[in-house]
Amino acid sequence: MKDPTPAFSIGTLPVFGDRILSPMDGISDPPTRLLARRMGSAMSYTEFINAIDVVQNHPHLWEHLQFSEEERPFVIQVFDDDPQRMYTAIQQLVELRPDVIDVNMGCSSKNVSGRGAGAGLLQTPEKVAQIFHLLSRNLSVPVTGKIRLGWDEDSKNYLQIARIVEDNGGQALAVHGRTRQQGYQGSADWDAIAEIKQHVSIPVIGNGDVRCVADVARMKAHTGCDAVMVGRGAMGNPWIFAGVERHSLPPGELLRVMQLHVNAMASFYGQERGVTLFRKHAARYLADYNLNGEQRGLLFSFTAVSPLVEYLATLLQAG
Ligand SMILES: Cc1cc2nc3c(=O)[nH]c(=O)nc-3n(C[C@H](O)[C@H](O)[C@H](O)COP(=O)(O)O)c2cc1C
Repeated sequence: MKDPTPAFSIGTLPVFGDRILSPMDGISDPPTRLLARRMGSAMSYTEFINAIDVVQNHPHLWEHLQFSEEERPFVIQVFDDDPQRMYTAIQQLVELRPDVIDVNMGCSSKNVSGRGAGAGLLQTPEKVAQIFHLLSRNLSVPVTGKIRLGWDEDSKNYLQIARIVEDNGGQALAVHGRTRQQGYQGSADWDAIAEIKQHVSIPVIGNGDVRCVADVARMKAHTGCDAVMVGRGAMGNPWIFAGVERHSLPPGELLRVMQLHVNAMASFYGQERGVTLFRKHAARYLADYNLNGEQRGLLFSFTAVSPLVEYLATLLQAG
């Protein structure tokens, strides 16, 4: 049963829960999102979608955009540096009936931010205004944004960007508390997230360095944010969304969820590809087991579900 009181709302869309799986390219694919959602993640964000791929109808694109009704509220995240092309792409994407469109203003990778998309947009506030104005005026679904604190230490313009998003119709803002220059180095600045929360009236979703259930409450208390987004801390750890600390898990529960996850990936991608793609998740699930080189080599050699699950059972029993 759903909690009758929403934790927050995106426009008129109620969100029941305050922990959300981060959009993560190569990680938050349909089977992984559904698992997280079933474990308690309050909504589902796609991996970032390149607007150019949408307008060019890239053949692999639609795989990332499949979703189950159970995932709703379902958010499609898009990146681009060209407001008009972004709008054209999003007009196609809304035909899939997402609940929300999210604008990526946080990706730090060179080929995205270097062309002025992702975190590159933080350097062109006028474009951010144009994008949010265009999208929020013309779409019937709410538009949200995900930002970093700025391009680098000398150009932290997060308050300016947050206000621009709000003034131009953005309905929520997720904030990763690092600059583009930091990449994933150093620690996330939760004070900056608190500052943003005090300066805007749209919901703020805090993000950065939430690694365990206790961190969720810590970030909420520190920043006053409406919800917390969990990225790396949720890899191999969907229990974070259920409010269960992973160190307290019996090995049987670890095995049960790994099995659910790999089976879901095998049915989504086909057995061989699904099992191969599951390897990065397996490494995270087993992070506390200090596998040696031989064990890792074996773990990463399987291409079918049954022998992999048998091996996982052996590892977990021994560990
Ligand atoms: C492998 C990986 C892929 C990511 N892909 C995306 C993405 O597609 N869109 C996005 O907004 N952020 C992306 N991020 C950033 C995360 O959503 C999040 O902002 C960042 O990891 C900080 O949160 P964390 O400390 O909880 O991991 C990615 C991060 C990782 C590690």
